[in-house]
Amino acid sequence: MATATLIDGKQFAARLRASIAVHVAQLKADHGITPGLAVVLAGDDPASQIYVRNKGLQAREAGMNSFEYRPPVTVTQTGLLARIAELNRDPAINGILVQLPLPPQIDPQPVIGAITVSKDVDGFHPLNAGLLAVGGTAMVPCTPLGCLMLIKAQVGNLAGLRAVVLGRSNIVGKPLAALLLREHCTVTLAHSRTRDLAEECRRADILVAAVGKAQMVKGDWIKPGATVIDVGINRIPTPDGKGRLVGDVDFAAAVEVAGAITPVPGGVGPMTIACLLLNTLTAACRQHGIPVPEVKPAAG
Ligand code: GUN
Repeated sequence: MATATLIDGKQFAARLRASIAVHVAQLKADHGITPGLAVVLAGDDPASQIYVRNKGLQAREAGMNSFEYRPPVTVTQTGLLARIAELNRDPAINGILVQLPLPPQIDPQPVIGAITVSKDVDGFHPLNAGLLAVGGTAMVPCTPLGCLMLIKAQVGNLAGLRAVVLGRSNIVGKPLAALLLREHCTVTLAHSRTRDLAEECRRADILVAAVGKAQMVKGDWIKPGATVIDVGINRIPTPDGKGRLVGDVDFAAAVEVAGAITPVPGGVGPMTIACLLLNTLTAACRQHGIPVPEVKPAAG
């Protein structure tokens, strides 16, 4: 049986961060600018705490300034908006990220909409979403950007290929569909109401699963030789009670059919923070009228 190539996102992300660090040092040397990233964590979601800590660590490792704000879980909409306004005004801050999910008393849309468009390193502001849709210069959401980098590194020219994206979220599915369309793929955005998901998936040269359902995509949903990108991170129970992380794809079966596949963990996950740092560097350059460097992953 054929076995798919493993797409090593952990290694790719490390090489990308190394290259970002070189460009950050260059920006400092040439212009005296140190990119600054502000992360706002309201709420006590345990996964968010880990993400936010890693964002800060990796930003500092890349030579950036990292600022963390942790309003209490009882923060009001007004309180959170006041904090965003302050960060918008602060010239030392080039990127603002409000970690989701927010506590239930907060309506996320006005909060995201309050972030200055050029500082919106998550790419969630409706203006950035619109710019991406019409092919403008947008801040691109980090996870879809990371997926696209892995796909392009694996496949090369994507023009004319059939891409199927499973999941229509604003964070992953919709922006990734727009990115793949920009690369001239024929794109299908499938979701829970799609009539025959398996049949749609079997047509895909590039299949991206971003639905948050453990091991939903079966081996016989995959076209032989396809490139499979698994965005899911799900914990499933194990007899020892510790649980195990799996993706949205049944990896053991898929690896026998696909041409290339991302593992979970170590696939798409590490790319998200690397792309956040890339967006922060891009934001700092744009805000100072400096040409945005073309950042390529450092040689492996
Ligand atoms: N929560 C889960 N993923 C993300 C992300 O990419 N950005 C933000 N802000 N919150 C998240």
